[in-house]
Amino acid sequence: MKTGISYYKAEPIAEKSWMISNAFVDHSYALCYLVEGRDYALLIDSILGMGILKAFCETLTEKPVLLVNTHAHSDHFGGNFFFDACYMHHRDIAFFQDSVGKVRKQQIADMAKGMALEEYRDRIEPDDDFADWNPMKVFPLYDGDVFDLGDRRIKVVEVGGHTAGSVVLIDPLTRIAYSGDACNGNTLLEFDNSLPVISYLRALLHLKDHQAEFDMMYGGHEIFDPSIVDEAIETTAKVVAGTDDRCERTGIMGGTVYYAAEKVKDGYARKDGKHFNMSYVPEKILGREEEKHVIRLEKNCYRGIRKHRRGMRRCFAGSRFI
Ligand SMILES: [Fe+2]
Repeated sequence: MKTGISYYKAEPIAEKSWMISNAFVDHSYALCYLVEGRDYALLIDSILGMGILKAFCETLTEKPVLLVNTHAHSDHFGGNFFFDACYMHHRDIAFFQDSVGKVRKQQIADMAKGMALEEYRDRIEPDDDFADWNPMKVFPLYDGDVFDLGDRRIKVVEVGGHTAGSVVLIDPLTRIAYSGDACNGNTLLEFDNSLPVISYLRALLHLKDHQAEFDMMYGGHEIFDPSIVDEAIETTAKVVAGTDDRCERTGIMGGTVYYAAEKVKDGYARKDGKHFNMSYVPEKILGREEEKHVIRLEKNCYRGIRKHRRGMRRCFAGSRFI
């Protein structure tokens, strides 16, 4: 930290549990969390890659830090490349690999300059304070997996919708659900890798099965009462039935999307005072039950493999094992 800028701050939210946010901005756009156990600490998301997050975690815990991502969006995995490995739901791994090109030091420093408080702006340079893509191991997660920290066990609940592999992590010890972007006041289901609304409704019913296990939902941008899950189920069911408010808006990618509940003028809040809202595209409401995982082999890649195999055969032909 040559510039002397404190990029992060931490706030204790429960026993050995911290909310980490950006400190050099007026309002932290994204949130991540550190939960310390007897054997290791679990970092839940890595936000934007502004500031050396691994070093900051080491100011909070002396335990080894394992990283898990709630989903593969760059505002939640930007700091991944300060680590050697991460855990992520298996349905988001391919998308993560396609998106990592966005994690470049220069790009992140430029973004930080734009977000920074006036007093820090001139000191921000694309130096080692900013994450840059590195090869890293990605371990797949599945619904029902558990992070056993030694004296606390964090449960993985699959809540696909926003992305196919979005997860919620439940800590039964503190009764906190770390929910990423799975269910919030602006749940975007408008992306190519978002699931059909009906699949999201099924996922919310799965989350509802766990609702009695938590008292608070700490999301990737905001904090909610667990009752937002009920609002989400009610609202999503209306979209499936075609009885939602269906408010036309311009989506984040520039196309036309619909919001399920009417918002106040010039704001995100719902007009009826409820908290959950979602965007969707009309072609992906019912949809068919999506294929879980499609693996394709490009022709050029296949030729490459055949060439490689021929080479390997020639290589082995001279050995006594063939
Ligand atoms: Fe997201």
